[in-house]
Amino acid sequence: MIDKIKQKLKEMLSEKRYIHSINVLDVAMELGKNFAVDLEKIKIAALLHDCAKNLSDDELLNKAHEYGIIVDEIQKRQPFLLHGPVGAYISKFEFGIEDKDIFNAIYYHTTGRKDMTIFEEIIYLADFISIDRNFEGVEEIRKKAYENFEEALLLSCNSTLNYVINRNLPIHPLTIEFRNWLLMKGGK
Ligand SMILES: [Fe+2]
Ligand SMILES: [Fe+2]
Repeated sequence: MIDKIKQKLKEMLSEKRYIHSINVLDVAMELGKNFAVDLEKIKIAALLHDCAKNLSDDELLNKAHEYGIIVDEIQKRQPFLLHGPVGAYISKFEFGIEDKDIFNAIYYHTTGRKDMTIFEEIIYLADFISIDRNFEGVEEIRKKAYENFEEALLLSCNSTLNYVINRNLPIHPLTIEFRNWLLMKGGK
């Protein structure tokens, strides 16, 4: 199963993105050990999280239409945001993965969302701290990931927001909801 997925994925992604997917798998497995999650499912979600990443903006918009994804204004302006939702459907229809946890983890791995499950959070954070990432502050988040998982998520979300704000890009509402939810569940 995993080997088949890897083989197909290799054909869909650039080498750099394929390596990133393997790196996300590795760190997701490390993170997943600390929680009651199905590690086989974590493997699949990690491997497939960016399966739509090599699609062009037009291809993402076309696929979103094909799959009946409702594209919001922000996604229209920044179609790369659709690689999560479209990737979730590709996993379902092209890889035959029917599992809902995997679907949602892939769907929301870029924006986050409120009420994320631990499964979704592991994929989100693993994507953020995979070994190929080298943005400022990544080391701190990597460390935090094993000391204080929730705080590491908040730092990741903040880092995404800073990135978006510094580039004057619109913030996706799901990311705001994700951050508020993280703060509130942390008692802030
Ligand atoms: Fe991604
Ligand atoms: Fe990724």
